[in-house]
Amino acid sequence: MTPDQHEHQTACRFCLSAEHRKVLEQEWLYKKLADLIDFLEEAHRELRAKTMPQTLELIQRAVERLPRAETKLRSALKTLSIFLGTDIFEHFEGEEKSLFPAIRSIEKCAEEPPGASPRCEASLGSLHKIQDQHNQILDTLFSSHLENTINRLRDVPDETCKTLGAELSRFVGDVRQHAFLEDEILFPRAVVLEQRLKSR
Ligand SMILES: [Fe+2]
Ligand SMILES: [Fe+2]
Repeated sequence: MTPDQHEHQTACRFCLSAEHRKVLEQEWLYKKLADLIDFLEEAHRELRAKTMPQTLELIQRAVERLPRAETKLRSALKTLSIFLGTDIFEHFEGEEKSLFPAIRSIEKCAEEPPGASPRCEASLGSLHKIQDQHNQILDTLFSSHLENTINRLRDVPDETCKTLGAELSRFVGDVRQHAFLEDEILFPRAVVLEQRLKSR
């Protein structure tokens, strides 16, 4: 794959503008990984406590207000609400319970001079599983299917449905940024630190 193709593929995967990616990289590429994890966990909390319940409630209200003939849209929204209410929460839990603590430990060990403390036991063993989940989440959220759902909602002559279309669009944008911070900044930096520790 040429660098151009790689750039194109990555840009499409997250659908962030080059400028937006640059801003995120400038902000997080050189800060402590523990600070980035704090930021990501705060975003998880916000999604769990506020954004997701509101979105799920809005989906429920929109489904009730859809014209009877919108059977496909109704079924797409029901599938989406199951995905948002279960798969994403399970993913957050996996990150918070295993991967993030491991990255925090690895960074701590790497800050110590070689031989200063017992060998670091933390490992990025759960990274592949988390990355697979990212691929599935990104495939679902950034599919043309969801884009169609958002566009259809905007066309329904009802304010609740239009509001849901706008909310889903904003939510997808937030997830894109979140996934970019994890896949393109946090995980690669953690892998480099782990390799550095192994080669000591
Ligand atoms: Fe996350
Ligand atoms: Fe994630």
